[in-house]
Order: sequence, then C-alpha cells, then structure tokens
Amino acid sequence: MSRSVHICSECCHESAKWHGRCPGCEEWNTLVEERAPSKSARSRSSSRNSRSGGKALRPQPLAEVEATAVARMETGIAEFDRVLGGGLVPGSVVLLGGAPGIGKSTLTASALGKLVACGRSALYVTGEESAAQVKLRAQRLGADALRVPTIAETDLEAVVATIEAERPDVCVIDSVQTLNAAELTGTPGSVGQVREVADRLTRVAKERGTAVILVGHVTKEGALAGPRALEHLVDCVLSFEGERERTYRTLRALKNRFGSTHEAGVFEMHDSGLVEVADASARFVADAANAPGSVVACAMEGSRPLLVEVQALVAPTELVPPRRIANGVDRNRLALVLAVLSRHAGLALGSSDVFVSLAGGLRVDEPGADLAIALALVSERAASRSAARDGRSRPTARSD
Ligand code: TYD
Ligand code: MG
Repeated sequence: MSRSVHICSECCHESAKWHGRCPGCEEWNTLVEERAPSKSARSRSSSRNSRSGGKALRPQPLAEVEATAVARMETGIAEFDRVLGGGLVPGSVVLLGGAPGIGKSTLTASALGKLVACGRSALYVTGEESAAQVKLRAQRLGADALRVPTIAETDLEAVVATIEAERPDVCVIDSVQTLNAAELTGTPGSVGQVREVADRLTRVAKERGTAVILVGHVTKEGALAGPRALEHLVDCVLSFEGERERTYRTLRALKNRFGSTHEAGVFEMHDSGLVEVADASARFVADAANAPGSVVACAMEGSRPLLVEVQALVAPTELVPPRRIANGVDRNRLALVLAVLSRHAGLALGSSDVFVSLAGGLRVDEPGADLAIALALVSERAASRSAARDGRSRPTARSD
C-alpha cells in the first residue's frame, strides 16, 4: 500500500503514481510527492486532533496578547550573530544555503562548538559525511568543536527521535537534502522529500524550543530541488556566498522573521576554519592598485559602509557582439552604465571586450556602485588608448 500521493503544484490533481506530465492540467514536471494522510488520521483530524475542536474562538486585541521577550542564543561568531539579527531564536528554523565547498559545515561546526563551550546543549546531524570525517574537520577548528555531540544518520524518524530524547538547544542538520522520510518513495533531495523533512523538523523545533539550522546545497543557478522549495517554511534564509578559489565568503540574510535582511557578514577561509573579517573595508582596499581601471567605492552593506575596489579592463576585440563580463556586479547594470557612457560621454566601447569585477570575490547590488563602474571604465579606456598610442609610435621610432 502506498503511503504517499503525488500532488500537482499547479492544479492540485492527486495521483498515486508519479507522472512527468500532470494528468489533470497537462503541465510538465509539476507533480510533487507528499505524505498521504492515513484514513484514521483523516477522520480524527476533524475532531480530536483539531486543537480548537472546531469551536469558535474569542479574538483578542493584540495589545492584550502576552509576548515574553525570548533571549537569543549568541553563537559567539559576531558576524553570524549580526546576520541572524542578534543570535539564534529558540524554536526557530534557519535555512543556510550555499554552493558545495563554500564552508557551510565549517561555519555550523564552529558555531556549535562555541555554543557548547558556553554551556548550551547542541546536536550535529551529519547525513553527508561519516562521524570520523566530521571529527577531522573539527580537529582543525579546535577543542570546542570536538565536544559537539554528533550523529551520522539519514533516517528522518531516527533524527526526530534523537532530538526529542536529547532536547538540544541548537541542532544542525547537514544537510537537509540527505535526510530520508521513509513514507515517501522519492529519493532523498527530491522536492517532496526535502519539504517533508523540513516540515517535520520545523514542528519538532517549535514544540521543543530547539533552534534548528538546516544546511542546504544550492547550485550556481539556485535550481536544485530543496532550498528554494523551503523558503516559505522556515523563519530565516541565509545564503553563504563567495568563490571557492577565493578566500572571502559573505553571509547574507534573504529572509529573516527576527531581524533585518540587509546585514552581511564577511569571513575568510583559513587553515583553522572560517575567520571573521571585522574590518572588511581595510582588507578589500589594502591591495587596491593605484592604477587605471581601479576605483574604490563605498557601498552600504546592511547597516555598515564597506569600501570595495572595482576593477575594469577594456580590450579591443573582433567578436560580435563583444564580451561583457561582470563579476560581483549585475550584468544588466554594467550594460546600462556602458549605454550611458556611450550616449552621454562619447565613450563608445562597441568594438571592445569589457570586464568588470569586484576585488576579493565580493558582490554589491547597490546602485551607488554604478558611478565607480563608470569611472573605472573611463580611466581604463583612457589608459588603454594611451598604451595603444605608445605601441603604435614605438615601431615608427625603431624604424627611424
Ligand atoms: P566545508 O565546510 O566542508 O564546505 P560545505 O559544507 O559548504 O560543502 O568546507 C569548505 C572548504 O573549506 C573545503 O574545501 C576545505 C576548506 N577548509 C579550509 O580551508 N580550512 C578549514 O579549516 C576547513 C575546516 C575547511
Ligand atoms: Mg558540508
């Protein structure tokens, strides 16, 4: 007997089997597996299982609602706490997404280590690595990380039972894509599985007051089943970004029910784990070359200003259309700046490749960066022109 159903996300058509095309609305790839409520649960749900028992409730003015201020749990990693809005809220669910290898396991392992050192109870659930592999990482992170109670398990029921038995203050699930709900036939990581896992863990978190951090992988396109499908379920969505080859990592909040979404934390990957970069501005502009094509801009990252170096390179090309490569700035904004320069500053770059990038692998979204991009392009263009002139005059000089 099947314990799951496949429901179309477009038309809610219910089907016992998975189909590539929904038999109801004929849309492709819309069927998502969900746990089928058992018959007894269905009949119970209307009476005993329903909390209000179906009776009318008395609405209460918000002023009379009791709301006790809950103390947040500070992880001791200041940049992480700031992005969270001041620490972890008991009973909340945080989704930490990021590309593989960016440092999600490292960040969560060191946060748990610090929490345990402060006397909090913690649980680290690893579904990707063996406990021995996790230990190897923890050894690099220090003594605190080695004291974190860890289980290597992929069965959702076993994980939920362990949380209920241990009642940790904080629990990390690394990663949500590896846990498996036995009732569903889909493979771990499929949309249905990931939703079911997140749903169960969210309920446990709320009931037990455990703060749960769900680690999730996102591909470069953000397309992988999982994190995107969970955003509405969780309280806080954090994105860990950066380039694997570079050492800088930024942590941003995309959604936060308990704080601002404008904060960003900057980290650097070292031999001994992630190190917070408290004075990021000094780091990012320390290496700024006093050269054409390099401009230092002041961008607001959440509540603090951040100095970043914009680098531009302009090179003649035969390609049609020419290359427009943007790293750390929006491609469309670069196109707009190029159009403005061409129209209003007489700077035509139609036969040149243009590369713009932010030093340190950072990303800046604010429109204030446009001026820096424009200035970097103008100075680079002037320099490349004079270099070309020198290059042309040299052979003439030699032939003289
Ligand atoms: P990891 O945290 O496992 O990434 P994720 O969980 O996001 O997949 O580690 C990311 C990378 O960081 C890995 O390639 C090894 C490197 N690393 C260090 O450079 N120093 C360290 O102390 C640790 C623990 C990892
Ligand atoms: Mg990992």
